[in-house]
Amino acid sequence: MSTDVEKILRPIDNPIPPFPPKYMKLASGDEMVIRQVGREDIPDILRYVEPLIHVERDYYDIVAVRLYSELLAYYRYRVQDEYVLVAQIDGELAAVVNGRLLSKEVGMSYHTVALRRGLRVGAHAFAAKMEYHIDIIGQKEVLIVAESPIGFRRWMIEYGLEKRFHMAHELGGVPSWSLTKALFDQARDTLVVGRRPVPPPLLEKAKATILPPSDPPTPPTDLLAATRSLYDSTGTALMSQRWKQERKG
Ligand SMILES: CC(C)(COP(=O)(O)OP(=O)(O)OC[C@H]1O[C@@H](n2cnc3c(N)ncnc32)[C@H](O)[C@@H]1OP(=O)(O)O)[C@@H](O)C(=O)NCCC(=O)NCCS
Repeated sequence: MSTDVEKILRPIDNPIPPFPPKYMKLASGDEMVIRQVGREDIPDILRYVEPLIHVERDYYDIVAVRLYSELLAYYRYRVQDEYVLVAQIDGELAAVVNGRLLSKEVGMSYHTVALRRGLRVGAHAFAAKMEYHIDIIGQKEVLIVAESPIGFRRWMIEYGLEKRFHMAHELGGVPSWSLTKALFDQARDTLVVGRRPVPPPLLEKAKATILPPSDPPTPPTDLLAATRSLYDSTGTALMSQRWKQERKG
């Protein structure tokens, strides 16, 4: 009985070509590998996404909580046609990107999260997932949204995305933006980097273990700091709150 219900609940993925791994040199001189992972790797990734749920800065919280659910849905067969790519530096998890196919011709970009900051690892990982949709799967366009101002700058502005506001995106039902093949072709020489094949020792190291990020975003030690940064960049709101508390004490 339960096996029969599972057959109904579990969607059947459409066959798509795998993402061929690639690598690139970052501004720091580090080499970063971007590769596709399978369901068996998801538990290792979830444990590094979970702490980001508590980081309000740059909207890591909402992105992490949604990404967590998408990864779990993939792991437990509760989403159709999803894929997950990871970026690793020396084996360490540096970025996670995912998405799915809405139809044969249209892709649905889910999330991009950078676990190492300041090196454009998120931008490179996002470019790799666009390359997957457009060049490797051969789709016509990818629907995209941004939850954070940095995301908006990286995707909508840098690629010059087109509005598809009549189409609700799967992420929160907000209006979609689109990366078409023509836009991707324009960005190809500047935003899409990386070489193939990945030298075997580099790829083997990446595949061996997904190591924990060494310097991931963390919540502020002072929990009020996140609120303060939202409303008062000078920090006076926090200070006056502290003074009030001290007076009460
Ligand atoms: C959006 C995101 C993937 C971009 O990743 P990225 O390309 O590697 O870029 P970074 O986040 O490291 O840097 C973004 C900017 O912040 C600056 N920055 C550098 N180090 C930083 C740090 N430690 N903390 C905050 N900002 C930093 C960078 O200089 C960069 O400025 P620039 O745009 O002028 O180049 C990443 O910011 C992220 O994961 N954000 C949270 C989740 C999110 O919003 N995802 C996208 C959903 S639409």
